[in-house]
Amino acid sequence: MRTIDWVDGAVEIIDQTVLPGELRVLRLHTVGELVAAIQSLAVRGAPALGVAGAFGVALAARVHGDDPVALGNAVRKIETARPTAVNLARGAQRAAHLLPLGPDAVLAEACAIRDEEIAASLAMASRGADLVVELRGDRPRLLTHCNTGGLAAVTVGTALGVVGELHRRGTLGAVIASETRPLLQGARLTSWELTQWGIEHRVAVDSAGPFLMARGEVDAVILGADRICANGDVINKIGTYAHALGARRAGLPFVVVAPESTVDVATPTGAHVEIEDRGAAEVTAWGDAANPAFDVTPHDLVTAIVTDRRVIRLDRGERP
Ligand code: MRU
Repeated sequence: MRTIDWVDGAVEIIDQTVLPGELRVLRLHTVGELVAAIQSLAVRGAPALGVAGAFGVALAARVHGDDPVALGNAVRKIETARPTAVNLARGAQRAAHLLPLGPDAVLAEACAIRDEEIAASLAMASRGADLVVELRGDRPRLLTHCNTGGLAAVTVGTALGVVGELHRRGTLGAVIASETRPLLQGARLTSWELTQWGIEHRVAVDSAGPFLMARGEVDAVILGADRICANGDVINKIGTYAHALGARRAGLPFVVVAPESTVDVATPTGAHVEIEDRGAAEVTAWGDAANPAFDVTPHDLVTAIVTDRRVIRLDRGERP
């Protein structure tokens, strides 16, 4: 099943806020509903956000087709719904370029973006599985963070797609999903997807990751990205940087799997990226809290970036 799609004139998404307790499909008919779904993380993950952005513009084109001011406002609302993943604004802008040609052209472009992400996932799964085996041999034991499966990328996924591909090849050792505080994308979503795929796994609290690596229970860390900067800095879910430090300390490969649609060479380094602050309420009901939703992993901690078109060996001095 696709996480997000265009069905009978509306955007259909799997509501990721209620998984794993309930598999609920939401139909979004307006830009307001779509923006709310993005902001509540009902639809989330960089590639899925790119598709959501494009479908959002398709919705706007149907409603405001002949009103350029209303259309411009709608596009701006969509592309700024969340600031960190480059895919969202990119998907919205790509679809918006077709607005002069009318709603059908916009929808066709949005569907093309969806299809490209599906194809990219398949390419990354195979390229990433090859790289992990090259780096760590057969039966690697992997640690992953956040959710990078089909839920985050229409189908298949990025880093989790690699895990699935290794399993399909019969050469997966083990998987640890770090829980991903505070919204538990790892414990709720990755664990649910791995269970659907019949892959045994363990969930660990985020802070256990570096210790499990030090204790020899992990052969490589593999995760996704929301934005990859020109110098190779990787923006991803908060907790990623700590796992990269743990991997470096333990001498383990740290592999980032993300489509080319997440590579942003117009942004020089991680210091130039707005890190979403999601407010205190997600963390605690009894006081104030800092809640950065993403962090920046410096490029020198990253072994390789796997995209749908290339493997960029940062450890050998290559750059995006
Ligand atoms: O806040 P989220 O759940 O949207 O954050 C998602 C991540 O950080 C993912 O790791 C990233 O988008 C890659 S998804 C293939």
